[in-house]
Amino acid sequence: MPVLLGTGTAFDQAATGAIRALAADCVCVVADAAVARLYPDDVIRFAALGSSPGIVFVAPEGERCKSLPVLGEVTDACLTGGATKRSLVLVFGGGATMNVGGLAAALIYRGLRLCYVPTTLMAQNDVVPSMKTAINFCGRKNNFGTFHAASLNVVDTRYLHTLPADELRAGMGELVKNALVLGGDHFTMAERMFDAHARAALDDALLAEIVEAGIRAKLPALAIDAQEARAGMIFEYGHTVGHALELCYPAGVLPHGLAVCWRMRCCSYVAARLGVLHGSERVRHDALIQRLLPEALPAPLPTVTDVMFRVMRDGKRGRALESADECSCVLLSAVGEPRQTETMLSKFPATLIADWLRAQGLPA
Ligand SMILES: NC(=O)c1ccc[n+]([C@@H]2O[C@H](COP(=O)([O-])OP(=O)(O)OC[C@H]3O[C@@H](n4cnc5c(N)ncnc54)[C@H](O)[C@@H]3O)[C@@H](O)[C@H]2O)c1
Repeated sequence: MPVLLGTGTAFDQAATGAIRALAADCVCVVADAAVARLYPDDVIRFAALGSSPGIVFVAPEGERCKSLPVLGEVTDACLTGGATKRSLVLVFGGGATMNVGGLAAALIYRGLRLCYVPTTLMAQNDVVPSMKTAINFCGRKNNFGTFHAASLNVVDTRYLHTLPADELRAGMGELVKNALVLGGDHFTMAERMFDAHARAALDDALLAEIVEAGIRAKLPALAIDAQEARAGMIFEYGHTVGHALELCYPAGVLPHGLAVCWRMRCCSYVAARLGVLHGSERVRHDALIQRLLPEALPAPLPTVTDVMFRVMRDGKRGRALESADECSCVLLSAVGEPRQTETMLSKFPATLIADWLRAQGLPA
C-alpha cells in the first residue's frame, strides 16, 4: 500500500512527483465541496498532473455524497470529460468522498487507477489502509460497493488543521477503537493524543505519528484478510449500532467516528451483561471513550424502535447465522482481546441493545 505521509514544501514536491509518475493522461479530481472551497489551489494543482487537462468534479459535502445519483454524476463527469483507461481518479476529501470516488474508480472501465488525498483524521488513518468503497443505498449504510486498492495515498497532515472540532473528535474515535481492540501501544497512543489535544498541542509531528499508528494498526489483519471479512472484522468494533445511530440523525449531525464511540459503549454494556467483559477492564474501556464523549447523544433523540429497525438490517447480518431476535457484533473480553469466533462476530439477543438504548434515555 503506497503511502506518502508528511507535510511542507518538500513533501508537496515529493507528492507532485509521485502523482506525475503514475503517468496519467488525465487526472479526474473528485473533491469534497468544503475541501474545494478551502484548498482551491490544490484542486487546480492536482488536476494539472496528467499529460492533458484534468477534470474536476465537486461532490456534495461529507456523507451527502454517498448516494447513487452522486455516483452517477461522478462517473458521468469522468466519462464525458474524456477519461480513458490511462486516466487517474484522484479523490480529495474525507472518507465519504473517498468512498464514492473510490467506487466510481472501481466501476469506470472495470477499474481506473486511484489516488487518495485524504483530508480528515478519520480518512487518513482508517480509510487509507482499506480497499473498501461504498455508497449508502435504500436507507442502509455502506451496502452498495466493492473493493478497489489505491495506487497512491498522499497523506498531508496540514489539512487536519481546518477540520471542524467534531470531525477531529470523530477521527479520534476511530483511534479509540484501535486502542480498545488492539490495546498495548495503541492504547498509549490514544492517551497521548488526548493529553496533547487537551493542551491544544496536536502539532503536525504528533498528528503524523498518530496517523501512522492508525494505518499500521490495520496492516497485520489486512495482510491475511484484505476484504475485512474475518481477521479484519475486528475493525468493525462498534459499527453495528454506530451505523444505525448515525443513520437516525440527519447527515453530519452524529459523525461516523463519534457514532462508533457510542456503539463501543453499548458493546461493553452487552459484553458485561453476557458475563464476557469483567469489572476493571470495562471501567478502563469506558474511561477512554469518556475522554471523547463527555456529553449526551444529540437531541432530538431518535426512538429505540427506529434504531433497532436499522440495527436489524445491518450489512453484516447473516454472517454469524443470527436468528430473527438476535444480532451480532465484535465483543471484547478485555481491552486488546477481541472475543474469538469463526467470523469474529458474537451473536446475542437483540433486546440487550434495546435495553442499552433505553438506558441512554431514548424514547420507545
Ligand atoms: N474502510 C472504509 O472505507 C471506511 C473506514 C472508515 C470510515 N469510512 C466512511 O467514511 C465516512 C466518514 O468519513 P470522514 O470522517 O472522513 O468524514 P466526511 O468525509 O463525511 O467529512 C466530514 C466533514 O468534514 C468536511 N471536511 C473534510 N475535510 C476537511 C478539512 N480538511 N477541513 C475542513 N472540513 C473538512 C467535509 O466537508 C464534511 O463536512 C463515513 O461514510 C464512513 O462510512 C469508510
